[in-house]
Amino acid sequence: MPIAPHGGELVNRILTGAALESAQKKITSLPRIKVDEYAAFDVDCIAKGIFSPLKGFMGASEVRSVLDKMLLRPGVAWTIPILLAVSQEEGDTLKTGSEIAIENDRGDLVAILHLAEKFSLDVKELAEKVYRTTDEAHPGVAYTYSLGSVFLAGEIDVLQARDVDHQDYNLTPVQTRAAFKERGWSRIVAFQTRNPIHRAHEYLTKCALETCDGLLIHPLMGTTKSDDIPGDVRMKCYQALMEKYYPHDHVMLSIMPVNMRYAGPREAVMHAIYRQNYGVTHFIVGRDHAGVGNYYGTYDAHQIFEQIEPGSLDITPLFFDHTFFCKTCGNMASLKTCPHGKESHVFLSGTKVREMLDRGEEPPIEFTRHEVAQALIQWATKAK
Ligand code: ADX
Repeated sequence: MPIAPHGGELVNRILTGAALESAQKKITSLPRIKVDEYAAFDVDCIAKGIFSPLKGFMGASEVRSVLDKMLLRPGVAWTIPILLAVSQEEGDTLKTGSEIAIENDRGDLVAILHLAEKFSLDVKELAEKVYRTTDEAHPGVAYTYSLGSVFLAGEIDVLQARDVDHQDYNLTPVQTRAAFKERGWSRIVAFQTRNPIHRAHEYLTKCALETCDGLLIHPLMGTTKSDDIPGDVRMKCYQALMEKYYPHDHVMLSIMPVNMRYAGPREAVMHAIYRQNYGVTHFIVGRDHAGVGNYYGTYDAHQIFEQIEPGSLDITPLFFDHTFFCKTCGNMASLKTCPHGKESHVFLSGTKVREMLDRGEEPPIEFTRHEVAQALIQWATKAK
């Protein structure tokens, strides 16, 4: 039996047939709100069931439960509110109980919101609970503070799914579930990343695959912060690795069109929930998962899984310690598996790696594969 979607039902809010035609007819005459790219990705995630069991944007009582209990409802884990905000002025013109057209960042009328509730939020409290900081230098906090002050809740019906770069790799939960079935995989591990895959990442994925039938390499391709490596550059790295270093009968590459929230531990739980909806049974959580700066402890994203209500999440997290190449062992290792001191370990900070790439210099093979290094050098030296 494949793993059940989170909360039991794989949501599909994409209209078809007569319902689509009727929505297309009326949408231009509805009151309209324009959303940014971030909210447009959230609309798409609700539409395709990546956010199952959510059928729309959250209301005040759901947000309360998520913030205080890390539950969407009893028995269903959820750690980050999914919100739709407009300005006070705009909010005042919208009537609860009415239908609202959502225009996306590309100027397309993509969805109809059935406005069930308007509410306000203490965004400072939200930042404290979700991001564990109110520091505006944190990208997730900065985004939250930039939102309008009226939050709109209600189910949405979606007229068109969002096409993204590398659309051929953008399999929906329905499609990954079908692909796993076709391949005969039942124990499936997913790997979340917003970076190129370096040796440490590769090691985690291969260790996990040793005990599973299949590996889903599942890079996040929603909005990311401006200094993260762009999606098309990362894609070149993933494709190069798929070609040369991963066995195709046990590994699939597909992308996930979800925004990066940089919420560390709380986001690790969300990352697991999304993958359960994609039909995945196991999920890799390494060091400082979804972290940014120094806001989270190295293993906070492991510990949070003990704090969510038992039984409220079906997917199994696989925890990994910080891994590195040990020159004395002659292989990848962690402090758990390697008896040698720091002098044997290859460690490069992100800044150091970036400096090397900018100079057109390859980081050592112990850190990254040649093909990945070349793709990154090409980007770094062109970017100047
Ligand atoms: S993340 O924001 O998507 O978490 P990143 O792409 O760097 O960032 O990491 C992807 C996954 O690999 C995460 O689970 C992270 O914890 C893990 N990870 C990254 N580097 C290491 C490492 N050296 N050792 C162990 N886990 C790591």
